[in-house]
Amino acid sequence: MNVLVIGSGGREHALCWKIRQSSSLEKLHALPGSDAMGKICDRVDLEMSDFENISKYCLDNNINLVVVGPELPLSIGVTDFLAGRGIKVFGPSKKGAKLEYSKEFAKEFMKRNGIPTADFRIFSEPSTAKMEIKKMKFPLAIKADGLCAGKGVRICFEEREAIRTIEDFMEKKVFGASGERIVVEEFLFGEEASAMAFVDGENVLTLPLSRDHKRVMDNNEGPNTGGMGALCPINIATETFNQIQEDIIKKFALGIKKENIDYKGIIYAGLMLTKNGPKVLEFNVRFGDPEAQAVLPLIENDFLSLLYSSASGNLRQEKLKLKKQTCLTVVLASKGYPENPETEKEISGLEDLENSSEVMLFHAGTKFKAGKWITSGGRVLNLTVLGDTVDEARQKAYFAATRVKFEGMHYRKDIGLY
Ligand code: AMP
Ligand code: GLY
Repeated sequence: MNVLVIGSGGREHALCWKIRQSSSLEKLHALPGSDAMGKICDRVDLEMSDFENISKYCLDNNINLVVVGPELPLSIGVTDFLAGRGIKVFGPSKKGAKLEYSKEFAKEFMKRNGIPTADFRIFSEPSTAKMEIKKMKFPLAIKADGLCAGKGVRICFEEREAIRTIEDFMEKKVFGASGERIVVEEFLFGEEASAMAFVDGENVLTLPLSRDHKRVMDNNEGPNTGGMGALCPINIATETFNQIQEDIIKKFALGIKKENIDYKGIIYAGLMLTKNGPKVLEFNVRFGDPEAQAVLPLIENDFLSLLYSSASGNLRQEKLKLKKQTCLTVVLASKGYPENPETEKEISGLEDLENSSEVMLFHAGTKFKAGKWITSGGRVLNLTVLGDTVDEARQKAYFAATRVKFEGMHYRKDIGLY
C-alpha cells in the first residue's frame, strides 16, 4: 500500500513510525511532514488546505490510504473532498469533525444519544449569559463553541470571573468567531482520562485508556497546554472500562449511524471519571497528541491493517493485540511554552537517542538546518519508552531527558505518577 499521512507534529511522526512497521507498506508520504519525518518518508510540499492538489498528488502516486493527523483539515472537509474523488481516507467527514469544532454540536449530540456528560446551557447573547450564570452553582466551566487551540475553556470559581470570561469570549472576541457562542457547564470532579477508539462507520475497537498531563507544570499547576506527557495504560477498574465502552463508545457508534454521519477514523473522548461514572468533557475526532505517542507503541497488530479496516468499514475482522507493558511519553518544551515559546535554539544530545533501542524519539517542533537540529515550536520532542512497570518507564524516560539540551528546555517531572 502507498500511504499519505497529513500533518507535521509529534503525533504524525509516531503515526509514520508505526505505519512503517507494517508489512503491507509500499511507500510512505507525509504532507507537509517535518524534517524528522522526512528521514522515514517522502515529504509533499503542499498546504493541508490545498485539496485540489492533494487529490491530484494522491491519484498520481497511487495512494491507497490517506491518514489525517490533525483536526483542522478534517474540519474544513478534506475527507469529503478526497472521498468524492475515490480516495480512501482515515479520518471523519466534515459533519463528523463538527463533534470537535463545535462544542455546542458535541453537547447536543451527546444529549440526543444518551452519552453521559456535564449538564450545560448554550448562549449566543452575552447579556443573557451574564444574567443566567447568576442563578448557577459555581464552579462552572465556560467554553467557546469553536476551535481555540486548546485555550477556549475557563474554569470559573465565582461570578466575577464568569462575567469576565463571557466578556472576553463574546464581546471582546479574543477567539474571534469561535467564541460568539458559548457552552456553560457544570463543573465535574474526578480524575481525567483519554479514551480513543477506531471507528469504521459502525463498529468500534477501543484502545487502552491513557492519561494526558495538560498543565505546564508539575502537580497540574500553571496554564493548560496541548499536553506535556502521557501514560498508557492507566490503572482503572475493569468495570469503569466496560462502562466507557458501553455508555460512551458504543453509544457514539449508534449515534453516528442514526444521524447519518460518515465517520471512519478515531474517536477520542476526553473523560472525567466522576463518582457517578465516566462523563465526556469533549470529543476530538483524531488521535490525541501526545496520547498517540504513548498508545501506538503498545499495539502489536499490523497498524496499517487497523487503519485500512477502519477506513473500509471492515473493523469487525480486527482484534486488538497489545503488549503487556506500560508506555510513557515525556514532552520537552521550549521556554515560554504555552504562551510565547522561544524557537531557533540548537538542540544537542539527539545522536545517542536516535540510535537507542530503548527510546522512541518523536519530533514535534524541530527542523534540521546546516547539519543541526533546531527548535521550531512550543512542544519540541517526545521521549517515549516502554517499561514493565510505570517506575521502570519513568526511569528510562527521565534518564533520556537528561541527555537532551537546548536553551530554555523544560519538562514535567511527574508524568506517570498519577
Ligand atoms: P476541554 O477542552 O473541554 O476538554 O477542556 C479542557 C480542560 O478543562 C479539561 O481537560 C478539564 O481539565 C477542564 N474541564 C473542561 N470541562 C470541565 C468540566 N465540566 N468540569 C471540570 N473540568 C473541566
Ligand atoms: N492531548 C490532547 C489533545 O490531543 O487534544
